[in-house]
Amino acid sequence: MHKDCERIMLTEDQLRARVKEVALQVDEIYKDKRPLVVGILKGSIIFYSDFIRFLTMHVELDFMAVSSYGSGAVSSGKLNIKKDLDRDVAGRDVIIVEDIIDSGFTLANLKALLTERGAASVMIVTLLNKKDRREYDIAPDYNCFDIENEFVVGYGLDYNEQYRSLPYIGILKRSVYEK
Ligand code: IMP
Ligand code: MG
Repeated sequence: MHKDCERIMLTEDQLRARVKEVALQVDEIYKDKRPLVVGILKGSIIFYSDFIRFLTMHVELDFMAVSSYGSGAVSSGKLNIKKDLDRDVAGRDVIIVEDIIDSGFTLANLKALLTERGAASVMIVTLLNKKDRREYDIAPDYNCFDIENEFVVGYGLDYNEQYRSLPYIGILKRSVYEK
């Protein structure tokens, strides 16, 4: 385990098994369709690549990079699009793949944006859900794990762009971000 982690919350085996389970459920729903699978950079990359490998339907891949201005407490905050989609979503079934839903700001805004652009449907698939932190009225359609309010890293998730390549989800030691 990395020295900056307090403990491992989800092991590689737990992640693989649950991601497969969720991917197969999603696959069943879209089996006759050709959804656009949108990964939210960068946190979702490892989850995204594991998730799509369990799908048997025809998928098209696309990515967005976003950041939020200001704190989640400001409901008038705006989503900053750092990289937009290559594809037009009008009339498309879209599956958003995100690493974690915290306040819900990012996904609430993204879903509204893609709906406004004319997507036929927008489904949200998340790896992690911090339910107790929700401030916006949004819930994932599919979520792999509900977690407590702890700051986690690994399997794509970072703290200051570090720890993304850890193969497990670990709880970051408080001393790392409180110093
Ligand atoms: P929201 O917009 O408040 O739902 O925040 C979602 C974003 O916050 C995620 O895409 C992550 O980038 C980041 N985030 C929230 N909690 C964590 C965490 O525990 N570890 C790493 N990133 C996190
Ligand atoms: Mg993110």
